Amino acid sequence: MLLMIYFLFFSLGQCSVDFNALLSFKDSVFDPSNSLSSWVNSSNPCIDSWYGVTCNPSTHRVTRLVLENLNLSGSTHSLHHLSYLRLLSLKNNRFFSSSAVNLSSWRYLRHLYLRQNLFSGTFPVGISTLRRLHRLDLSHNNFHGEIPMTELTQLPFLLTLRLESNSFTGPLNSIASFSSMSDFNVSENKLSGEIPAWMSRFPVSSFEGNGDLCGQPLQSDCFNRTALPATIKKKIRHPQSKRLSNGVVLMIVAVDVVAVMAALVTITWCCYKYKCFSDGTQTEAMETKSGSTTKLQRRSGSREVEIEAEELVMFEGCKGFRKVGDLLKSSAELLGKGNVGTTYKVVTDGGDMVVVKRVRQRRRRRDVDGWLRIMGGLRHANIVGLIAYYNSKDELLLVYEFLSNGSLHSLLHG
Ligand SMILES: *[C@@H]1O[C@H](CO)[C@@H](O)[C@H](O)[C@H]1NC(C)=O
Ligand SMILES: *[C@@H]1O[C@H](CO)[C@@H](O)[C@H](O)[C@H]1NC(C)=O
Ligand SMILES: *[C@@H]1O[C@H](CO)[C@@H](O)[C@H](O)[C@H]1NC(C)=O
Ligand SMILES: *[C@@H]1O[C@H](CO)[C@@H](O)[C@H](O)[C@H]1NC(C)=O
Ligand SMILES: *[C@@H]1O[C@H](CO)[C@@H](O)[C@H](O)[C@H]1NC(C)=O
Ligand SMILES: *[C@@H]1O[C@H](CO)[C@@H](O)[C@H](O)[C@H]1NC(C)=O
Repeated sequence: MLLMIYFLFFSLGQCSVDFNALLSFKDSVFDPSNSLSSWVNSSNPCIDSWYGVTCNPSTHRVTRLVLENLNLSGSTHSLHHLSYLRLLSLKNNRFFSSSAVNLSSWRYLRHLYLRQNLFSGTFPVGISTLRRLHRLDLSHNNFHGEIPMTELTQLPFLLTLRLESNSFTGPLNSIASFSSMSDFNVSENKLSGEIPAWMSRFPVSSFEGNGDLCGQPLQSDCFNRTALPATIKKKIRHPQSKRLSNGVVLMIVAVDVVAVMAALVTITWCCYKYKCFSDGTQTEAMETKSGSTTKLQRRSGSREVEIEAEELVMFEGCKGFRKVGDLLKSSAELLGKGNVGTTYKVVTDGGDMVVVKRVRQRRRRRDVDGWLRIMGGLRHANIVGLIAYYNSKDELLLVYEFLSNGSLHSLLHG
């Protein structure tokens, strides 16, 4: 009996949080057609079925709130106390937010529809706390700033992401792919940059109306747009404020391009290897000992079995060898040693020259495979192409095309 009273008291007490939240919400919104007339003090939102409100019958907590097409205006601030909401739909009203919408109190939310309102500010904060989110529709509002793609791609159940007709800017950076995403729309924003490969399965209309997006499935090619960091771009356009002779300008441009190339290679490399250096060593210290011809010794000498065939992954432009054994028995010239590993020039039996990088530290095999496959698919004039890699338990070898122009280090520093 006592227990029952306790539970009754407890659940009513909890329920009153929602009750108060709904009433203060009602107080704070402008309701031109008096749609919320059933929301009155003397009744119970769960028992007397308030308009748009659904409760869990046993806990008496509000789990769904659906207020669509009612021309309501005001702030949604007091709804944050409805911490057991699973569905919130405020489609097609005139709600607004004075600052960024904070979603973190709705951790059970599965469906959030805020389309066609007057919400502004940056992308709602706390999105990563909504681990159960299935559908998110923020379209036709005034949100601005970048889309936190990384956080969104980490939501395990997200099926719908509709962000069209806002003012989102920046790139659609994201390497990971939503496995389950089926409905995606970022059209009519101010996004720029390349569309990540995994997104190109969505139709053109998901991306249209963003002046500066390029890549599949859009017609505009990214190939002749250089993805240079803004500062360097600026430098190229306005090399110096002083007038310089064309020759000097050309030289500066050339040096910049080489530097960008080095930076791109280094950054790409660092980012999958070390999540970027923390100690500030940006470039590899090349201790070049050219001329000394050696052989790439197998690291675990006893293991001469031909297991390598299945672990050698080859990409476009790979020729001259079929097995990692072909590389290991060719003569190799040490090109340099660096933070990442040791680099050799290898001439295969057929006379083809490749560069083999033996990586020193290893992450778990599963981690690097995906990255290496992405890198192996990159072909660009300013990026040295990865043509194959060999990833076994004890060894990671990266095989690059050979560039005959000598050492980048000496080209840069003379
Ligand atoms: C509504 O509730 C408040 C307290 O929250 C109370 O002061 C007020 O009298 C109530 N109004 C009605 C009409 O019941
Ligand atoms: C919606 O409300 C605004 C005022 O907030 C009013 O001007 C407009 O006519 C209303 N529209 C409808 C369809 O009720
Ligand atoms: C969002 O709300 C949560 C609590 O509900 C709070 O801890 C957090 O600091 C808020 N975040 C921002 C950016 O205001
Ligand atoms: C994306 O949104 C735009 C604008 O509302 C619409 O025209 C287009 O059909 C939508 N595309 C998809 C794939 O949902
Ligand atoms: C970029 O490529 C497109 C065709 O793909 C071409 O029309 C355009 O002129 C090129 N722009 C530059 C700056 O080369
Ligand atoms: C680099 O080598 C290629 C051919 O291997 C040559 O066409 C090019 O002019 C060289 N560039 C420089 C800067 O030496």
